[in-house]
Amino acid sequence: MITASEMKTPKLVTALPGPKAKQIVERDAKFMSPSFTRDYPLVAKSGHGAMVEDVDGNVFLDFAAGIAVCSTGHCHPKVVAAIQKQAAELIHMSGTDFYYESLPELAERLGKTVPGSEDKKVFFANSGTEAIEGAMKLARYATKRDKTIAFYGGFHGRTMGSLSLTASKSTQRKGFGALLSGVEHIPYPYAYRCALGHTAETCGAEILETLENQIFKRLFDPTEVAGIIIEPIQGEGGYVPAPKFFLQELQRICRQHGIMLIVDEVQSGMGRTGKWWAFEHAGIEPDIIASAKGIASGMPLGAIIAKSSVMTWKPGSHGTTFGGNPVCLAASLATMDLLEGGMIENARKMGEYIFRRTADWTNKFKIVGDVRGKGLMVGIEFVRDQRTKERAGDLRNAIVDSAFHKGLLVLGAGENSLRLSPPLLIDEEQADFALRTLEECIREAEKKT
Ligand SMILES: Cc1ncc(COP(=O)(O)O)c(C=O)c1O
Repeated sequence: MITASEMKTPKLVTALPGPKAKQIVERDAKFMSPSFTRDYPLVAKSGHGAMVEDVDGNVFLDFAAGIAVCSTGHCHPKVVAAIQKQAAELIHMSGTDFYYESLPELAERLGKTVPGSEDKKVFFANSGTEAIEGAMKLARYATKRDKTIAFYGGFHGRTMGSLSLTASKSTQRKGFGALLSGVEHIPYPYAYRCALGHTAETCGAEILETLENQIFKRLFDPTEVAGIIIEPIQGEGGYVPAPKFFLQELQRICRQHGIMLIVDEVQSGMGRTGKWWAFEHAGIEPDIIASAKGIASGMPLGAIIAKSSVMTWKPGSHGTTFGGNPVCLAASLATMDLLEGGMIENARKMGEYIFRRTADWTNKFKIVGDVRGKGLMVGIEFVRDQRTKERAGDLRNAIVDSAFHKGLLVLGAGENSLRLSPPLLIDEEQADFALRTLEECIREAEKKT
C-alpha cells in the first residue's frame, strides 16, 4: 500500500472541507484574528515533498508551498534531521550578544551566492518584513539620506516601515493612518498592461524617464534618496517580471546618484527562478538584498545581504533577539545543500517545461490573458476579454477554488492572476497533473462566461 508520504498526486477521500476540517475552521473563526485571507478551507496536518495531507486524510498536490516558502518541499528528511540535531544541542543564544558557529558559516555561504567582486556581509532577521525594515534602515544609514522610492504593485511586508513601501492593495493600508514620510511610488514595468504597447523586453522606458525627469526634478532631489527598492519579479502583485533593461537602467541611475539599489528577493529568491536570485537574470549587482521565505524551508528566517562597504553600521545600531536562531540557521544550511545539490537546476528545468506546456494557453483559452514568469515562479492572468484585458478576478477565484476541490493547492496573486509556486523538487508527473487540473478548471470557468 502506498502511504500518503509516498504519493505523488492527490487523493481525496471526503467532500471538502471534511468533518474534522470543518470543526477546526469554526474554532479558528472564534479564536483567531479575523485579518487573515483564507481562499479555501485547507486544514493541513502533515506534508511530505510536494504533498500535503489534511486532517481528514485528503492528500493534495501543493503548488503554493506555504506562499513560496517550502523550497525543498515539506519536511525534507535532511532539513528535519538538521533541525532535530540542532534542537537537541542549542535552541537559542542570540547573535546580538553572543557568537555561534553557524552565524558566520551561513552568512559566508549566502554572501557567496551573490555575484560581484565585493565581499558581502549579512544580518539575520525572522521574516521578510523584518529583512525589508532592516534593508531600508541600512540604506538610510549608509547614505545619510532619508527618501525611498518604491513601485506600485509592490509588496514588501506589513510592519509600519515596510508597509510604507508596499503599494499592493489598499486594504493592507486602510485604517492604519499615516505611514513613513519620504516614500514615493512609481509604476512598475507591467508589460502585459503597458499603456504604450511595449513588450516584456522593452516596457518601462517611460517610467525611468518619469523617475529622472519628474520625481528627481520635482519631488526628491536624487541626493536625498537613500534607496530604490524593487522586486525583480513582483510576487503579490501578480508574478510580474521586470524587463532586464529596466533593472540594468535602474542600477545605472542608482550608481549615478549614490542611491542604494535594494532588491526584494523575499519571494523570488533562493533558487525559485532557476538561479539563486531573480536579479541575476538581468546581470545586475544590487547593493542590498532582502531574503526570507524559501531560505530555511519553512523555519522563520530572513536575511539582509549587503556589500561589505555598505553594511558598516556601528554596534548597537541594529539588532534582534531571535533573528538568526540556531535551529533556523541549521535548516537554512541544509536547505542550501539541497538547493545547490540539484533543486535550483530542477526549478530551471521544470519552469521551462511548464512554460512549454502553457505556451498555447492564451490561444486555447479566451480567459487567459498572459502566462509569465521565470522558473517555478509562474503567473497566469485571467481576463474577461483578451482585447480589452478587463480583469476577471472572479474567474480567477473560481479557478483557485475548483483546483482545491480537485486536490491541487494554488494561490491567487494580484487582482486577477494565479500563481504557481511549488516546491523546487516537483517532477513532470506532478507538473502534468497540475496543468491538466488547471486546464479543467479554466474550461469550467469559461463555461460560466
Ligand atoms: C516580496 C515580498 N517581500 C516581503 C514580504 C513580507 O514577508 P513576511 O510575510 O515574511 O513578513 C513578502 C511576503 O509575501 C513578499 O512577497
